[in-house]
Amino acid sequence: MSKDPNGQTRMFSEEELAFKYDDLPPEPLTSVGQNPVWTDNKARFVMLYLRYFVYITHHGTYIDGFAGPQAECETDSWAAKLVLGSEPRWIRHVHLCDQNRAQVQRLRGLKAAQPDRDRAGHRIHRDIDVHDGDFNRIVDEILGTGTISEKEATFCLLDQRTFECDWATVEKLAQYKKSGNKIELFYFLANGWLERALSGQKDMDRLARWWGRDDWNELKDMTREQRRDAIVHRMKAELHYKSVKAYPIFKRQTGRIIMYYMIHATDHPQAPEQMARAYRDTVRPTEAPQYTQTDLFPEPKGPDSLSPADSMSQLSA
Ligand SMILES: C[S@@+](CC[C@H](N)C(=O)[O-])C[C@H]1O[C@@H](n2cnc3c(N)ncnc32)[C@H](O)[C@@H]1O
Repeated sequence: MSKDPNGQTRMFSEEELAFKYDDLPPEPLTSVGQNPVWTDNKARFVMLYLRYFVYITHHGTYIDGFAGPQAECETDSWAAKLVLGSEPRWIRHVHLCDQNRAQVQRLRGLKAAQPDRDRAGHRIHRDIDVHDGDFNRIVDEILGTGTISEKEATFCLLDQRTFECDWATVEKLAQYKKSGNKIELFYFLANGWLERALSGQKDMDRLARWWGRDDWNELKDMTREQRRDAIVHRMKAELHYKSVKAYPIFKRQTGRIIMYYMIHATDHPQAPEQMARAYRDTVRPTEAPQYTQTDLFPEPKGPDSLSPADSMSQLSA
């Protein structure tokens, strides 16, 4: 371990900060197209991926750890609602968790509103468990039931606001299966407000649990891209996922501000391509903004402000 200019021990070596991941397996190449996803479409992005996921697996378990609706009212940008309503309804087991009482009520309402039969009139075989509490605790209950078999294709959405999901929770999900493909993760990493959140965070214990290591103080000195790459690297190096890709989600349809990343970690050989396909299909070309050449390849504005094209090109790196 090296020392920084203030004499503090650095948990990241200079080499790690340079993000040369030659030691890790190469990422599968995928193409995300030219239609960046923006915040309003996140739920559709998640839903489309899960639809493509069940076309391959024909079954599955969906865990949504932070499942209450973003806008705190029922909207069409609510991931849990879109996922439950998506056909074919081959996801057999669903766990929806939230720690806010009003949000749990909304989840119960969503469960109660589910039909018995799909559009073709076939009975839907699905159980939905609504969990009331802190997902960092509830995750033990869900995994502890033993109902997720080694062969069960399982996907977990970790759609936290900023620092709510403990790294230990991510580890538990990743380490649960002992053979076969690990539980897939779709992990929310705040970007557009992360510096503000880091400097405004008074509860250092929360920050330490979120990051899961005692070098969290270094996060403040990192660029946004370094933070993104650090999480990607940790999911590969510490959790041993075969593919980890960070999908940028933009603030607006035509803007260049990345509000957050959705980080997809998977072992399934077909999953990276399906996620890239979901990203491409979330905003279909007919609905896409009419980019000019200048929009797509803007003047560089420094290391923190990647264009959609730059941000997406790192996905196929
Ligand atoms: C960003 S919102 C989720 C958005 C949602 N996935 C959607 O598609 O609209 C985060 C949710 O997590 C809940 N939450 C915050 N901390 C939590 C925790 N420790 N455990 C479970 N839920 C939590 C909040 O009440 C809120 O409903």
